[in-house]
Amino acid sequence: MVPGGYGGTTAHRRAGGQRGDGRVLCNGCSRTRSGPEGSSLQRYHLCAADRLAVTAVPTGPEDGPGLARTASRSVAHPASLWQPRVMSDSHAEPGEVADDPADAPAERDAGTRHASSATGRRDAGCEVYTHGHHPSVVRGHSWRTAENSAEYLLDHLRPGQRLLDLGCGPGTITIDLAARVAPGPVVGIDAAAGVINTATANAATSGLTNVVFATGDGYSIDAADACFDVVHAHQVLQHLSDPIAALEEARRVLVPGGLLAVRESDYGAFVWSPDDVRLDRWMQLYHHVTRRNGAQADAGRWLPAWVRQAGFADVRTTSSNWTFADPDSRQWWGSQWQERATASAFAEQAVAYGFSTETELADIAAAFEQWAGDPDAMFVVVHVEVLATAPS
Ligand SMILES: C[S@@+](CC[C@H](N)C(=O)[O-])C[C@H]1O[C@@H](n2cnc3c(N)ncnc32)[C@H](O)[C@@H]1O
Repeated sequence: MVPGGYGGTTAHRRAGGQRGDGRVLCNGCSRTRSGPEGSSLQRYHLCAADRLAVTAVPTGPEDGPGLARTASRSVAHPASLWQPRVMSDSHAEPGEVADDPADAPAERDAGTRHASSATGRRDAGCEVYTHGHHPSVVRGHSWRTAENSAEYLLDHLRPGQRLLDLGCGPGTITIDLAARVAPGPVVGIDAAAGVINTATANAATSGLTNVVFATGDGYSIDAADACFDVVHAHQVLQHLSDPIAALEEARRVLVPGGLLAVRESDYGAFVWSPDDVRLDRWMQLYHHVTRRNGAQADAGRWLPAWVRQAGFADVRTTSSNWTFADPDSRQWWGSQWQERATASAFAEQAVAYGFSTETELADIAAAFEQWAGDPDAMFVVVHVEVLATAPS
């Protein structure tokens, strides 16, 4: 068992769906429950259809195959690094959600990875993304920059590097990173087509020509082996039921000696004041919902172990926080969660799974509003970040 992790007994794992290595028992392709018609469980399920199209990849000079070149190579257009292919059929059907991990049969405790596609790999279509892409969520993610979310990586970036951003969301971090490695080609991928459209629009207004966005699956990246110098992922692994499989896939597309940069928050380590039982309940609900989705809300503490187990070398771990304590940032963080508590996919899932009610979620929203208006209030979002090297 990884030190500091959840208990590793079978009984514990079955009760909570947690494994001794911080991963959550795989929900795999056992899908028995349907979300309500038109619910977020349907809208936000990362189904195969979401991943078929490469969205709005600009046309441009292509550099062709043979992407694993040295620094003296000519600069590739980012679209040339991306090789969209017809994905294997996903087992996911709209409206289906995975079994409760607590209901999983004992043999799942054996630690085998649960393939969800004909290739034997996991894929995004097998999973439910807890937050979804409600406007309140995307607005929150769009606040992120390389400076406030990827500072640990910045000193390692050089012009000309080829960079992949996994689970890029609206792409604001990706675009900042693209500015730093320009003219190096940058590709941002996300399993959700809608947010890729947002990222593409953001790229268009950035004026950068070295970045493209495409729908894609972090478990099965549409790129050749060894064609990126840097792979970055921010707050993505916590949403996956097999983060180590996604990290192994990241290792595949990195050149030997290439750089992995991953950063995850750790919900269990968040700190806020003043105390409010409604916010405690929000945290408890968030853990229930993510665990039900096969995800690990406390991913930060597991990150170094996951990276090492995925075969990376030279694992360097640091941490950094977001702090919301001044009036503007309190208002921003509090109002965002006020809305997310009742309107986002998380809220719909909390009710659909039977963990909460709309009345309770309205109470939680009121707690965030009250927190934001308290001049003494503070909230710290703890992150763990890891830099590591793909082995030669
Ligand atoms: C919390 S958001 C982070 C977005 C962005 N990295 C940021 O920090 O602003 C997580 C993103 O990962 C995406 N995602 C979830 N599972 C994925 C998968 N298997 N492959 C690719 N993207 C995935 C979700 O659609 C979502 O947009």
